[in-house]
Amino acid sequence: MHTTNNLLGTNAAHMLESERQHYLQLHPASAKLAENACQHFLYGVPMHWMNDWGTPTPLFVRSARGAHFTCADDIDYTDFCLGDTGAMFGHSPEPVARVLEQQARRGFTTMLPSVSTPDVGAALADQFGLPYWQIVTTATDANRFVLRWARAVTGRTKVLVFDGCYHGTVDDTLVDVIDGRTVSRASLLGQTVDLGLYTVAVDFNDLAAVERELATGEIACLLTEPALTNCGMVPPLPGFIASLRELTRRHDTLLILDETHTISSGRGGWARNAGIEPDFIVFGKPIAGGLPAAAYGFSEELAIRMQAAKDAAPPGHSGIGTTLAGSMMTLAAMHATLTEVATPTAYEHMLTLAATLEHGLNTLLARHTLPLSLIHI
Ligand SMILES: Cc1ncc(COP(=O)(O)O)c(C=O)c1O
Repeated sequence: MHTTNNLLGTNAAHMLESERQHYLQLHPASAKLAENACQHFLYGVPMHWMNDWGTPTPLFVRSARGAHFTCADDIDYTDFCLGDTGAMFGHSPEPVARVLEQQARRGFTTMLPSVSTPDVGAALADQFGLPYWQIVTTATDANRFVLRWARAVTGRTKVLVFDGCYHGTVDDTLVDVIDGRTVSRASLLGQTVDLGLYTVAVDFNDLAAVERELATGEIACLLTEPALTNCGMVPPLPGFIASLRELTRRHDTLLILDETHTISSGRGGWARNAGIEPDFIVFGKPIAGGLPAAAYGFSEELAIRMQAAKDAAPPGHSGIGTTLAGSMMTLAAMHATLTEVATPTAYEHMLTLAATLEHGLNTLLARHTLPLSLIHI
């Protein structure tokens, strides 16, 4: 066994090195751009984590359209990542490109609501089911602000999440469970607060642990994806999310579903298709066709409690909201995406392709008895 592992290791190292050489041969322009960009960007990339992928130098993109992009060396790629769902409906969807061109001549941002505001609200409510909405710039912001609202309206301090979760760079959620204790994730840079003070993490699919924590009466909200999609793919056990809904109601804890990724599972998101009504729901990434935009929705009861909390607070900064969110450009892109791009026909097309991909990959895996499994939400 030992010898086999060594042999596999040697083969893998050999294959990796030959792939790296092949990549460098094919991508001289990307390599040159990387060298130049290093003069002014940390690691030569606009965001440092763009250097985390396995290629010897970052792959620089020239253009993207539909399910393809072209790199600096003019090689065409079929894009299976699609910006981690940001470009889930395809790169540069035509209706979004069209309205952005029109809006670009009529102003980008004013810090005032644009005339399209009621239409965007109606489109969000129509597609996702919840009646009230707020617009933000990223899903990270949406989660961060929803946690604040939850604490403000319940008067409770703690947040319950699942071990292995990722909800963007929201401090409260960047925790791990070590020896049964919730602690700040060791990889965080510049983190000074002990995140375990106000966040508790338990195992996904462990209802008993959830109930134990809710029974303390300290938990303002439970924040989760319907399936964990950022630590591999962990689907919920049958009935798990419905039980979370039932338990959170029983303990007066708010249920927040982060559907930033699971929006891909069906039109309207996973919860709507499963008939589950969360208190808050978060959608990010693709809802403005890939432009930075996100939205959080909430029930009527919550809207009343949120307004009461805001009205009761002294005038001044609420700590919720940013200046560029809800701009004219964002609203225009969001409206076009919701009404012309994220259509039943588009979802039917995507889900049919996903089923074909799943079947093809499973057939391959079965043929080669590889230690891999496939999860399709
Ligand atoms: C489930 C989930 N929520 C929120 C986010 C944060 O999205 P953004 O980076 O656009 O703020 C991510 C990012 O991957 C995510 O996977």
